[in-house]
Amino acid sequence: MAELDGDVFHPDRSVAATAHVPDADALRAEALADPQGFWADMADELEWFEPWDKVLDDSDAPFYRWFTGARCNIVHNCLDRHLTGPNKNKLALIWQSEDGSEHKTYSYYSLNRQVNMMANIIKAMGITKGDRVTIYLPRIPEVFFAMLACAKIGAVHSVIFAGFSSDALASRIDDSESKLVITADGSFVNGSVFPLKSIVDEAVRYSPTVENVIVVRRAGNEVTMDALRDHWYSDLLALPIAKGTCETVSLDSEDPLYILYTSGSTGKPKAILHTHGGYMVGTYTTLKYTFDMRPEDRWWCTADPGWVTGHSYLVYGPLLTGATVFMFEGGPTYPYPNRWWQLIEYYGITQFYTAPTAIRSLMRFGEAWPNRHDLSSLRLLGSVGEPINPEAWHWFHRVIGKEQCPIMDTWWQTETGMFQITQTPGEPQKPGSAGKPFFGQDVAILDADGNEVPDGEEGFLVLKNPWPAMLRTLYRDDQRYVDTYWSTYPGVYLAGDSARRDADGYLWIIGRTDDVIKVSGHRLGTAEVESALVSHPAVSEAAAIGLPHEVKGNAIHAYVVLRVGEKETPTLAEELRAHVAQHLSPIAKPDAIDVVEKLPKTRSGKIMRRVLKARAQGLDEGDLSTLEE
Ligand code: WT7
Repeated sequence: MAELDGDVFHPDRSVAATAHVPDADALRAEALADPQGFWADMADELEWFEPWDKVLDDSDAPFYRWFTGARCNIVHNCLDRHLTGPNKNKLALIWQSEDGSEHKTYSYYSLNRQVNMMANIIKAMGITKGDRVTIYLPRIPEVFFAMLACAKIGAVHSVIFAGFSSDALASRIDDSESKLVITADGSFVNGSVFPLKSIVDEAVRYSPTVENVIVVRRAGNEVTMDALRDHWYSDLLALPIAKGTCETVSLDSEDPLYILYTSGSTGKPKAILHTHGGYMVGTYTTLKYTFDMRPEDRWWCTADPGWVTGHSYLVYGPLLTGATVFMFEGGPTYPYPNRWWQLIEYYGITQFYTAPTAIRSLMRFGEAWPNRHDLSSLRLLGSVGEPINPEAWHWFHRVIGKEQCPIMDTWWQTETGMFQITQTPGEPQKPGSAGKPFFGQDVAILDADGNEVPDGEEGFLVLKNPWPAMLRTLYRDDQRYVDTYWSTYPGVYLAGDSARRDADGYLWIIGRTDDVIKVSGHRLGTAEVESALVSHPAVSEAAAIGLPHEVKGNAIHAYVVLRVGEKETPTLAEELRAHVAQHLSPIAKPDAIDVVEKLPKTRSGKIMRRVLKARAQGLDEGDLSTLEE
């Protein structure tokens, strides 16, 4: 029997007995003793066109290279290899529309056909190996086709969350020098239409590299089409060039697979670069072991493909393991807060992977909503994006998992590409702890001098071993890669989080230590929010901080100094919030905006956000010796 003993959950013994990893601590010790041996064994479970010479080449660290000399393609392992075995006619993807009126399914065979057509089309548009393609799509099957089509021909995709504004989209298209953008006319957001295509039009006006825009018909809203540049996807599919198979090209293990922009401490988003070989081994292994993937499972990851969770555990990881993956176009509460529970029941979801912020927001609607549904198909639950507070953990455990389902809390980052700290289903779980290092990983918690802190004390989280799905660099910015991650403590990867380890070896993540704020699990840089604010004509200076929020984890509070001659009006704060939504993204909208006379700064002019934070929370302001007069 599963049992919650004080603050430790012990899954039923049968869970470990039947899992891929029956004795996790034993495998942890074995993999730590020989990480390369562990990763080589896992890589052997996938197919390669040519074998590797070396599992890990660390001769140019921190520019690590994995499976050097090998030839492969992640799409061969996501699709092609399934076509010759029992998965051929298995469902790869199940999709439901936001309003529930449409439902689509793709077997591995038919998903492969769709990917071939998309790949043929983009190839005919002149996209070749190494070219960047921006994907700006809602959660519809075409996002799978587009990502896999790029990878199949060796092009590098850059997926942008379809909630980003035209400014944010333009700067990312520009930075990546994309030749092609794949988008839709519009997307559905809680019953209304969000005009994706017009946002692309606006963005592409400033992007000279874009030659073609493919537009998927989705929301039926009116759009303007540029006769030379824009193409309806349905028209392209009807052309002879779309037909037939498209070769899955043989790539070097280290050839780039994608770039994904994420927020950092400074204004410009970081373009994280991932490659084919190591990434496929890392995402495959972590998903298989952590979520104990079995052939009969139906996996649902609620993340959007615009974030790394969508890349690793909605698209690539599940297909690598030959799973059936479910993708839902909508969100959890439209039209009613039972939407997700209804889908779990309807499709018989076995593993459900979501974010603490979603759990907290659904808790507020009460237990009656989930209790209307039979959730007994679930066998595992998962959490990602921010620490899960024990209250949310217990609700998830009791109300959704019916006290039987282990909860896999997975700590990782856009940079890591794959889980770093988590557990396997059979192990005891502590609500609020992300668990233990993944196999082959060596996690340490350091003080400012680089010494390990004693158990129970807070320090900086670092990863001591390289891992196959690690970022290779920041796209075209090797120096920033070295500076950001590898310079604070030479030779180890600095995660940017603080954490502590308890006496049982369980890790507890506390939060970011840099100027990154996690709002509803989304990663935002204070500098991005600030630069959106100062782009408003009334604002001369701005500072953004994160303050604890019951549902969102953190909420953004902003302080602005107005330009000389500008006056605070009753509508100004709302106007500025709308400005941030429009110029960055609605997810970055500050909860509160205060107009102030001046901002606390150091004598060298740096904004002291920690002082603002302490003041807002009524806490001690700490050392003020560097504060300017
Ligand atoms: C940051 C990375 C990779 C998944 C999506 C987020 C926080 C992520 C957890 C967790 C506590 C977590 C960290 C990390 N974070 N997962 N299970 N427990 N914190 O990716 O946007 O790159 O953000 O998210 O602060 O550094 P991301």
